Amino acid sequence: MCFLLLIYLLLSANVADVFTEDADCQVYNHLYVCLENGGFLHSVAFEDVNAVQTIEDIELHLENLEIINITRNAFTEVSNSSALYVRDNRLSSISRHYFDTLNQLTYLDLRNNTITNVEDGAFASLSDLETLLLDHNNLSDLRPGVWRGLSELHELYITHNQLALRRNMFKGLRQLETLVLDSNDIPEIPIGAFNGLSHIDLLYLSRNKISTLHPDVFRGLSEINELDLGKNRLRAIPANVFRHMKSLNSLWLNGNQLTVLKSDAFQGLDNLLFLFLNNNDLRYVDMAAFARMKNITVDPGFRIRGSLVGDFRKIYGRYQCISVAYQLPYDCTEIDS
Ligand SMILES: *[C@@H]1O[C@H](CO)[C@@H](O)[C@H](O)[C@H]1NC(C)=O
Ligand SMILES: *[C@@H]1O[C@H](CO)[C@@H](O)[C@H](O)[C@H]1NC(C)=O
Ligand SMILES: *[C@@H]1O[C@H](CO)[C@@H](O)[C@H](O)[C@H]1NC(C)=O
Ligand SMILES: *[C@@H]1O[C@H](CO)[C@@H](O)[C@H](O)[C@H]1NC(C)=O
Ligand SMILES: *[C@@H]1O[C@H](CO)[C@@H](O)[C@H](O)[C@H]1NC(C)=O
Repeated sequence: MCFLLLIYLLLSANVADVFTEDADCQVYNHLYVCLENGGFLHSVAFEDVNAVQTIEDIELHLENLEIINITRNAFTEVSNSSALYVRDNRLSSISRHYFDTLNQLTYLDLRNNTITNVEDGAFASLSDLETLLLDHNNLSDLRPGVWRGLSELHELYITHNQLALRRNMFKGLRQLETLVLDSNDIPEIPIGAFNGLSHIDLLYLSRNKISTLHPDVFRGLSEINELDLGKNRLRAIPANVFRHMKSLNSLWLNGNQLTVLKSDAFQGLDNLLFLFLNNNDLRYVDMAAFARMKNITVDPGFRIRGSLVGDFRKIYGRYQCISVAYQLPYDCTEIDS
């Protein structure tokens, strides 16, 4: 009898503790924020709803609070919010229940946590979400089930992680227009990595370790305007690799290890406006590569017999080039054939 009473007291004491002594509630950015057990986000409520409300948005700012975990229903009181900022915390895993009451979110900032895992369906309630920021985390893999429900996502940022690309990795993000994957140490792009992303406008892959491109990797990206492959390890541009990108207007290939540009390198890029080739080691250039581009500016450009090439449609032939200095035009001499 005594024993049972003791157990009862211990249990009820624990339950009471959770809501009283252990829960530390404070006002933070016009919100009542309750954290318990050093890092469990227990609940969020409006302290002053007018102060967090703009004309279009209700913004929840929960940056830098050392949050490590989020209790089920933590956001029930603030479920009409449209933007959630939980950057600079210590979340290591994103569970399926974290955001399930926040079904009006359009903007979710999860930058700079230590996220290694996102559960399938973690964003399944966020059918209005337009922007998702996952930069500066520790993601190495993401299964396609992660994207379930994100039918309106326009922008996805996953820079500064250790993400490896896989076939069909982003399938399901049918409205995605901006995909930013800089600084991930990506070694290669598997064929089909961008399957299903037919509305991509901007694709940024700079500061990775991509050394080769398969000729079919960019198939299906017919609406793309900007492609950034700068600061990778590309040694060559395979023939016709950009042929599917009819609307591309800017292409970054700076900071690679390109030595040769063949005549078919840029096949299909007739509408290209800006091409960045600085900080490569170009030695051999077939000017036919640029002949069909209607209005191209090449950075840093080519100097032939002392003058800078202005109109690429009037230059033919194969040239031997040297890189004089970073940002100065390549200095080229025609190869007698
Ligand atoms: C959001 O919810 C709070 C509290 O429930 C309420 O005071 C506020 O008016 C709501 N705002 C909008 C735009 O629905
Ligand atoms: C990440 O957040 C920590 C605090 O949690 C902060 O000290 C650090 O500067 C942040 N880093 C970046 C890259 O924002
Ligand atoms: C968060 O807390 C729940 C409930 O205690 C637990 O099951 C889960 O593993 C925790 N998640 C992390 C990443 O610590
Ligand atoms: C997570 O990534 C950061 C750099 O973004 C790194 O400093 C840290 O060691 C990584 N942590 C783990 C657990 O991998
Ligand atoms: C060529 O592109 C430049 C921008 O780089 C633009 O200002 C100019 O109007 C274009 N010219 C033609 C003929 O389209």
